[in-house]
Amino acid sequence: MHTTSITAAALLGLSAFAAALPTTDTSSSQSSEASTVDAGSDAFEFPLANGFPNITAAKDKDIIALIQAQALGTLAQPGNTTANATKPTGASILGQGFVAFNELMEVAFFTELISNVTNNAPGYGPDDITGDRDQILAILKVHEAQEELHQLNAAGAFTKNSGGQVVEPCKYNFPVSNFAESIRLAATFTDVVIGTLPAIQTIFGKNGDAGLIRGVGASLGQEGEQDGFYRQYLGLAPAGLPFNTQSAVSLAFSAVVQSFIVADSCPQTLELFQNPSFTLEGLTLFDVLTPITDLGNGKEDIQDAEFAGTPVQVNAVAVNSLVAENLCITYLNQNNGPISFKAAVTGGSDKKTFTAPFPGRSLGFSGLVITTVTTGTVDGCGAFLNADDVAAATKFGPFLFEADNFIDDLINDSSSSSTTISETETSTAAPTATN
Ligand SMILES: *[C@@H]1O[C@H](CO)[C@@H](O)[C@H](O)[C@H]1NC(C)=O
Ligand SMILES: *[C@@H]1O[C@H](CO)[C@@H](O)[C@H](O)[C@H]1NC(C)=O
Ligand SMILES: *[C@@H]1O[C@H](CO)[C@@H](O)[C@H](O)[C@H]1NC(C)=O
Ligand SMILES: *[C@@H]1O[C@H](CO)[C@@H](O)[C@H](O)[C@H]1NC(C)=O
Ligand SMILES: *[C@@H]1O[C@H](CO)[C@@H](O)[C@H](O)[C@H]1NC(C)=O
Repeated sequence: MHTTSITAAALLGLSAFAAALPTTDTSSSQSSEASTVDAGSDAFEFPLANGFPNITAAKDKDIIALIQAQALGTLAQPGNTTANATKPTGASILGQGFVAFNELMEVAFFTELISNVTNNAPGYGPDDITGDRDQILAILKVHEAQEELHQLNAAGAFTKNSGGQVVEPCKYNFPVSNFAESIRLAATFTDVVIGTLPAIQTIFGKNGDAGLIRGVGASLGQEGEQDGFYRQYLGLAPAGLPFNTQSAVSLAFSAVVQSFIVADSCPQTLELFQNPSFTLEGLTLFDVLTPITDLGNGKEDIQDAEFAGTPVQVNAVAVNSLVAENLCITYLNQNNGPISFKAAVTGGSDKKTFTAPFPGRSLGFSGLVITTVTTGTVDGCGAFLNADDVAAATKFGPFLFEADNFIDDLINDSSSSSTTISETETSTAAPTATN
């Protein structure tokens, strides 16, 4: 068992990746150049040495064979195509495109991480890695290759079904500077992926594209296996929650763009997803939400938690304008229904402050918490059934962080006095949700 100790500060500071980034300063927030991610000189850029992502199963058999060997398995092969399913329709194609887009980010991340470790970059040397460095490096290489195959699978489907459109890679920066931070970030974005793939499966189901659900499930479980490794490395229980936190495609899309993509590095790709030609409704890029109040380990109730909303234009594509009236703070955690609180709103046109309760203890927050600002009504908040409803009403966000975990307490020797589920049920300090 690894003994990496996780302080609450590290937990929040490292995995709250939207918050960890430099936010746009107000003087430039109206500029089309503004983005949350600094370009930097060392941004990650494709292609990889093997040509990825510019490789196709048909033309590059030798390259694919090498990736498959490293991935410990094959790219998904279709069954007998005489019984082809019907061609996917609009929103399903967009879902496939998002998966390809997100997997590009993951391949970039793991490639850079492996390079950092291999080259003993500061923060990534032998002393910075707990356990068997060679074995950990070998495992990361397996994951990297598996992500390449996920990407090729989704990108191939997207290009075929969208009539030849291509998800061009972006340039990427990751807000981490040592190995543990990188693994913590990997755990958090993997949690977001694990929460978002069911949203894509739901789109397939609603669209009559049931034939696509199985393939997404095959990579969904795979991402969970990866996550278990990252969590165990961090000294956490490999399986962090009984039911993972739900997300939605536009929430994940906004998180990736706000957190990792260098401004103006892939305008055509962001345009493709926001205004797709093959379906009516594109994805939405939301304005940025960051916490002002220290939320600690996320397990306490805070009556007046403050969040900052900053209007940001990403890659010259306009995102939401600031809105003041009838806004709510909405939380998603585990597979529980969304919870909203009416937000007090202050601030001018360049920046807003939203104040609302944070119900960490009373609701037993654990694992990934997704916080957004949503539109409400004069006397309440939206009635949201799930993360898709939340995304449809979101103006700012997502702010992502990992609340301290019940199971982590079991692993921690000195756990007995910590929050338990039954305590939270009988808590008298519960803020009252408005929905
Ligand atoms: C992929 O190939 C296309 C066409 O040759 C080229 O325009 C594009 O820049 C290449 N992309 C990468 C990442 O190498
Ligand atoms: C595919 O299905 C058709 C129709 O049932 C059958 O004739 C053919 O032999 C099958 N091909 C393979 C490779 O199984
Ligand atoms: C099924 O799809 C494949 C790949 O697009 C295509 O080559 C094949 O002709 C299709 N088969 C039928 C029966 O439509
Ligand atoms: C790799 O190391 C560089 C320089 O130390 C750092 O900026 C970058 O964020 C690291 N990337 C990952 C994925 O760990
Ligand atoms: C484990 O216990 C120590 C000592 O009480 C505490 O500082 C630390 O935050 C705990 N870690 C977790 C993950 O609960």
